[in-house]
Amino acid sequence: MSKVAVIGSGNVGATTVQRLAELNIADIVMLDIVEGMPQGKALDILQAAPLIGYDVDVIGTNDYADISDSDVVVVTAGIARKPGMERDDLLATNIKITQQVCENIEKYAPDAIIITVTNPLDIITYAALRCTQSDRNRVFGMSGLLDSGRFASFIAQEINCSVKDINAMVLGGHGDSMVPLPGHTTVSGIPLTSLMDEDAINRIIKRTVNAGAEIVGHLKTGSAFYAPSAAIACMTEAILKDTKRIVPASVQLDGEYGLKDICLGVPVKLGKKGAEEIIELELSSQEMAALERSANAVKEGIAKIRP
Ligand code: APR
Repeated sequence: MSKVAVIGSGNVGATTVQRLAELNIADIVMLDIVEGMPQGKALDILQAAPLIGYDVDVIGTNDYADISDSDVVVVTAGIARKPGMERDDLLATNIKITQQVCENIEKYAPDAIIITVTNPLDIITYAALRCTQSDRNRVFGMSGLLDSGRFASFIAQEINCSVKDINAMVLGGHGDSMVPLPGHTTVSGIPLTSLMDEDAINRIIKRTVNAGAEIVGHLKTGSAFYAPSAAIACMTEAILKDTKRIVPASVQLDGEYGLKDICLGVPVKLGKKGAEEIIELELSSQEMAALERSANAVKEGIAKIRP
């Protein structure tokens, strides 16, 4: 049986553990610094097993030794956004937490593929990559799959079709500068641009960019976790089952899209070696300009964490 460790057992972490358990694909360790909380949630999830029908082991712990031999480690530890906060406002606190978490992953699970989730996502991914001194296929962030899911759900509502038929693509930083790509989004193979007029597409793009903040505005005490955990579970499954799914994720670029020394959302192929390949889409000059603007916004954040 494969093994997945989820660091941080708050809203995103615990929901991820529930989704992974229900997929029945790996034993799971959930870890948090709060004593008792991961242990209690793990027991609760285990007790649902006979009712739902999964048959994996789930343990809660405060001890990093328990993550040893993990195939995948998902990092959700950190603070979440409150109303009025940008993802970047979380930077200083979450960078410190990420460094501490990464040191422990290197000590106890040095071979695990690492999926970062903590925000601000692209900067945290860059920091995790530096901290672990890993190849870029091993450490990458969950971002574009969530943003594409949000884009797809809004498109389905707008044109009143099954969400299953939508193949949406969102590139760039996981923030206000993200780049939804209507030109690379299809509904059952039909280009989105031939099903929706420009005004409607622009309205939906705006809502997609603001989708995380829209939820924070409703919740007031935290940020989204159902869709984020769904995206994490999809990525983890693709890695464990070596399915070679192509999804957007935040990965270090080394000349692709004309960009270097940055983690940014682009399509990657997921398999047992992690982000095994970066796919370069043919972008129009307008799309490329938007991606460059997004890269510049992420680079400003990265500059803040350079020693
Ligand atoms: N080690 C382990 N866990 C930690 C650490 C640490 N050093 N510091 C904080 N945590 C834990 C907290 O105790 C908390 O249980 O991380 C958990 C975070 O959970 P929530 O506050 O519920 O936040 P959540 O909604 O899960 O979001 C976590 O994911 O989507 C991003 O922006 C979001 O950065 C945030 C992260």
